[in-house]
Order: sequence, then structure tokens, then C-alpha cells
Amino acid sequence: KFSNYVKVVEVGPRDGLQNEKKILPSSIKIELINKLSQTGLKTIEATSFVSPKWIPQMQDNATVFKSIDKKTGINYPVLVPNLKGLQSALEVSVKEIAIFGAASESFSHRNINCSIEESIKRFKEVILEAQKNNIKTRGYISCIAGCPYEGNIKASAVAKVADAMLQLGCYEISLGDTIGVGNFEEFALHCHDTYGQALANTYASLEYGVRIFDASVAGLGGCPYAAGASGNLATEDLLYLLSEQGFNTDVNLNELIKIGEWISGELGRTNMSKVGLATIAK
Ligand code: HMG
Ligand code: MG
Repeated sequence: KFSNYVKVVEVGPRDGLQNEKKILPSSIKIELINKLSQTGLKTIEATSFVSPKWIPQMQDNATVFKSIDKKTGINYPVLVPNLKGLQSALEVSVKEIAIFGAASESFSHRNINCSIEESIKRFKEVILEAQKNNIKTRGYISCIAGCPYEGNIKASAVAKVADAMLQLGCYEISLGDTIGVGNFEEFALHCHDTYGQALANTYASLEYGVRIFDASVAGLGGCPYAAGASGNLATEDLLYLLSEQGFNTDVNLNELIKIGEWISGELGRTNMSKVGLATIAK
């Protein structure tokens, strides 16, 4: 029997903000993470230590990470693409990282400027160094169902990268995008809602036994190297579905709704959470 508890990984401060044109001041990012820390969420992806030339919005990574109030019991993972990123993350005492690869060669080149094979070598160095520092690593795989440059991606390509990441020591693999996946407890689903299918895929994968979902408050975001990709599944919509279906998350939906409204206002954009909009309209 699968568990009734669902782990929600809030990726708004990273995935949600990385593609926003308006560069938010660090103080707002810090406030966002501090607010999210009051909602019951146990994992909040805080920022990424990537090249500022590639992702300008994340260039204040060290400032943000140093300044947030780190609550006991909450993990604040960060994205790290290489040893340079890991070094910067270590300097501000990051406790958990995520490496990110792809099941598609073209996407790998566009996103991290190397082939899948080269990326696995890089991840190996990063994970070994992380382990020496007692840091846990999550693995992301993008394009698990399809790639914006190559179209369909074979399940075997996804399995190959997932296998390599697990062997390198990743404790959890987050599958980026669509389709219902396997029922292993190390797998998380990371849906962007580009075609409005994120909740449907979430529902399907719940039935397959997936119990970890990535989501972004107010549905913020989109990947800069996947043109047309909209934000992640909104955390508010995920929580609503889970509570309607009788799952437990320990996260306070009403608080999330307030934070979603606030951060959308700060960014000057529409709140992408249906549940958020419906609740605020009442
Ligand atoms: P590169 O240009 O091949 O790297 O980029 P390089 O080693 O040749 O270095 C070039 C310059 O970048 C150098 O500076 C380095 O110092 C600097 P210069 O000498 O020219 O002044 N540099 C760095 N600076 C800061 N931090 C670093 C770093 N590394 C190099 N860590 C690299 C390769 C991987 C760095 C680059 O391609 C990159 O940063 N990519 C990140 C792209 C990204 O963040 N994408 C979004 C996240 S993934 C995502 O959203 C998908 C996901 O959500 C799942 C899903 O939805 O599918 C996870
Ligand atoms: Mg993403």
C-alpha cells in the first residue's frame, strides 16, 4: 500500500524566478523564502549556483542563501552545475544540492553546454566532493517525455540517465516534465504546466505511487532553454488536489495562497494558480 503522505518540493524561488525578466531585489527573494518557511513546507529550493551570464536572475545566490532564516527541519537545496558552483555553495554552508541533466542531447547542450556523457562525468566530480562535505544530492532529468529541440524522447534514454544518477549517489531523481512514471520512492515528478496537463499527470502518477512532487508558488516560472514552457504546476493547485483526494502534506494552503498573490504583485504578473485566483476572488 502506498503512503498517504506526499512530499511537496517548492521550487518557486529557483525555477519560478530564474526565467522572470524583472530582476527582483535580493530582499524580496529572501522575504519569499522566509514566508514559504512558515507554511509547513519541508523542502524549499532556494537558488542556483550557475553562471550569471546564463541565468542573471540567480546572480545574487550567495547573498540570498546567506540571508534567509533557515528553519530547523526545512531543507534549502540549491542547483549546482559544476565544481565551481559547488565551491560557491560550500562557502555559504549549503547542506543539500541538486545536479541537473537531461535525457535529450540537444537540451543538455543548450542548458549546460555539454553532452549527456560529459555531464555525467561532471556530476560525478560534484557528487564526490559533495559527499566529502556531507552534502546530499538530488538529481534532475529534463525532457523525460519530450524535448523542445528533438521531439519525442525514449523512455530508455531517461532510464539510462536516471540509473547513472542513482549510481553516482543521488538520493532522489526528479523527472522533469510530463507522463506518469514508475512507483519507486526515489522518484519525484516535476511538471511544467505548458499544456495545462500538470495536474492530470500528477493525478495519474499518484495512482502509480509517486509521492514527491515539485511545484512553484503562484505557478511562477518556465525554463529559459525550453521556449514556450510555462511555469511549474502551482503549489496551491497541487495542495488543493492532494487535500481533496485525502492526502496529507502538512502544508498550509491558505498561507501559500497569500504568498502567491503577494509575489505575483511584486513581479507585476498574473497569479497562475487557479486555486489562488478563485480563493482571492471570493
Ligand atoms: P560554460 O560557458 O560552458 O562554462 O557554461 P565554462 O566552464 O566554460 O565557464 C564560462 C564562464 O562561466 C566562466 O566565466 C566561468 O567562471 C563561469 P568567465 O571566465 O567567462 O568570466 N562559470 C560560473 N560562474 C558562476 N557559477 C558557476 C559557474 N560555472 C562557470 N557555477 C555552465 C556551463 C554549466 C556553467 C552553464 O551552462 C550554466 O550555468 N548553465 C545553467 C543553466 C541553468 O541554470 N538552467 C536552468 C536550470 S535547469 C531547469 O530549469 C530544469 C529543471 O527545472 C527541470 C525541468 O523543468 O525539466 C531543473
Ligand atoms: Mg523546471
